[in-house]
Amino acid sequence: MINILLTGSNGFLGQHIARLGSTDPSINITGWSRNPEIHRYCDRNEQHNLANITITNEMISEYDVVIHTAALSNVDYCEENRKEAFLVNTEATRQLAKACNETHTHLVHISTDFVFPGDDKLVSEQDATNPVNYYGRTKEMAELYIQQLLPTSTIIRPVLIFGNILSNTRSNFVLWVKNSLEKTQAINVTSDHFRTATYVEDLSRLCLNAAKTPHPGIFHAAGNSYLSVYDMAIKVAQHFNLNEKLISPIHSSNLNAPGIRPPCSHFNPEKAKQVFGFESKTFEEALKEMD
Ligand SMILES: NC(=O)c1ccc[n+]([C@@H]2O[C@H](COP(=O)([O-])OP(=O)(O)OC[C@H]3O[C@@H](n4cnc5c(N)ncnc54)[C@H](OP(=O)(O)O)[C@@H]3O)[C@@H](O)[C@H]2O)c1
Repeated sequence: MINILLTGSNGFLGQHIARLGSTDPSINITGWSRNPEIHRYCDRNEQHNLANITITNEMISEYDVVIHTAALSNVDYCEENRKEAFLVNTEATRQLAKACNETHTHLVHISTDFVFPGDDKLVSEQDATNPVNYYGRTKEMAELYIQQLLPTSTIIRPVLIFGNILSNTRSNFVLWVKNSLEKTQAINVTSDHFRTATYVEDLSRLCLNAAKTPHPGIFHAAGNSYLSVYDMAIKVAQHFNLNEKLISPIHSSNLNAPGIRPPCSHFNPEKAKQVFGFESKTFEEALKEMD
């Protein structure tokens, strides 16, 4: 039996990992969430606020693996609430890495493509990071602490995560497009931002594989399609038979958001495929699975 601690177990990704994990009799999952448990997928649940926590070795020592998905992942919120973003995304991760090191617990940390500036090129795991917003900076600092304190950790970097939501989690790009078009609402979507978006079910399987067969290093967990965000929206409309004329392309310079978004995230998931058998899908294949 593998004892897993899953942080962020109420979150979009966290709930998918917990649900998939609940079908595997070889693992036992304890969820950590800030708010009360909103699902029944974890075997046990504890409430902790990572913005003001002291993570002790005793809190971690009963687990074989920690899968750390919890984060403040709203770019604009992080830009405007820097202290809280630092405490949750960086400081709590530093404490987790330290406790994992001292208790010989494996750490699978979920990072982000936003550690990169978003140049228009294929980015590899070895490339230098240089985030363009504070959210990316907090996640980059977390990666650096992990590499320093616990170099045997697995760091997984997904790109724009999409898929069906389970209960009450924040929405994602594909569902926002689908729901808006279903209500015949016109939407503006950037045509100069490009992503290899990651399907949440594929990512959840990867996280559990990484927990079951520990392997150190950084892994890019991307989907198989490199598309503009506008093209993704059009594909969502076409797939769900919705009116694509409601979607207008806009240039990112017209977005009035506090946090800058990196223009391009072009990841190659080959390393994750080879080491963990990561099965990433094309955008269209993932949409079909969402039906
Ligand atoms: N979504 C994306 O497109 C994307 C892309 C690349 C990387 N990532 C990374 O993937 C991971 C999962 O993202 P997600 O989309 O699943 O995010 P999410 O739905 O916002 O879930 C994050 C979870 O973190 C928890 N959390 C936030 N602040 C906390 C605090 N102070 N104390 C304890 N828990 C706290 C929340 O718990 P409660 O619900 O209980 O409040 C929330 O459920 C994150 O590390 C993110 O940086 C996401």
